[in-house]
Amino acid sequence: MNLPDFGVGTFRLQGRTVIDSVRNALELGYRAIDTAQIYANEAEVGQAIVASGVPRDELFITTKIWVDKYAQNKLIPSLKDSLAKLHIDRVDLTLIHWPAPCNGVSLEEYMAALAEAKAQGLTRQIGVSNFNIALTRQAIEVVGKEAIATNQIELSPYLQNSNLVEFLQSQGIRVTSYMTLAYGKVLKDPVIGEIARKHQATSAQVVLAWALCLGYAVIPSSTKRENLASNLLARNLRLDNEDMVRIAALERNGREVSPDGLAPAWD
Ligand SMILES: NC(=O)c1ccc[n+]([C@@H]2O[C@H](COP(=O)([O-])OP(=O)(O)OC[C@H]3O[C@@H](n4cnc5c(N)ncnc54)[C@H](OP(=O)(O)O)[C@@H]3O)[C@@H](O)[C@H]2O)c1
Repeated sequence: MNLPDFGVGTFRLQGRTVIDSVRNALELGYRAIDTAQIYANEAEVGQAIVASGVPRDELFITTKIWVDKYAQNKLIPSLKDSLAKLHIDRVDLTLIHWPAPCNGVSLEEYMAALAEAKAQGLTRQIGVSNFNIALTRQAIEVVGKEAIATNQIELSPYLQNSNLVEFLQSQGIRVTSYMTLAYGKVLKDPVIGEIARKHQATSAQVVLAWALCLGYAVIPSSTKRENLASNLLARNLRLDNEDMVRIAALERNGREVSPDGLAPAWD
């Protein structure tokens, strides 16, 4: 299965909250779920998947390797732990979560270990997250551009990442936008609000439709069933050229996430 355009995120969601969120999402028709080892919720995501009864081959499950598991002798065992928690025998996509330039493991080592995980059938596809252009180039040198399914990056109307996006698209690497809603911040934007009124849509639908229109995959999260339901309807919203131009003008390098020691020098 190719990378789905629309999935549900699970960052920050724990225990009952994540179980309910994933259950609601699956009931509403979501089929892609984004988790990560560091979210400490893979077991609950797995529990919700099993309880849903949705056939495994309809689902697209992504996890991400945490930075303390990048060494060649740790990455594959950690992914096997993730599979056990998720109650599946392979994930659809495994990402390197952050480049973590100071964690003592070279990019060559962890990208080779990730490719080996794919060769062993533990993951259908592999990719990266939070990589800048230079690091994506290095990853391409190790595994080849065809092997990198996506670079999952923070991308919202306030942080459009145009240089990195242009590079990824030139390489045929799919862009996944995380925090497309800037964790709710862009929903208060007056321009987004005007466009939403014009289309009788919600602000979240406008922002998600904007990202989809640009060809990005999105993985918005929500603890509320009604938000999960209405977000999914963004797939039916068609923005016009004027809307797209107005949203493009909202760029303000508004980065929300840049952890010391993990983040690269951003483009
Ligand atoms: N690769 C990485 O390093 C990385 C980093 C961050 C995130 N991610 C992934 O990306 C996913 C999305 O990012 P995110 O969860 O941080 O932020 P987000 O999707 O931009 O925003 C989620 C927030 O928006 C609210 N929201 C969602 N739909 C809404 C709606 N229709 N109306 C009003 N509010 C709405 C949610 O509140 P309610 O719960 O109240 O609806 C929640 O507070 C994560 O869950 C995670 O899977 C990856």
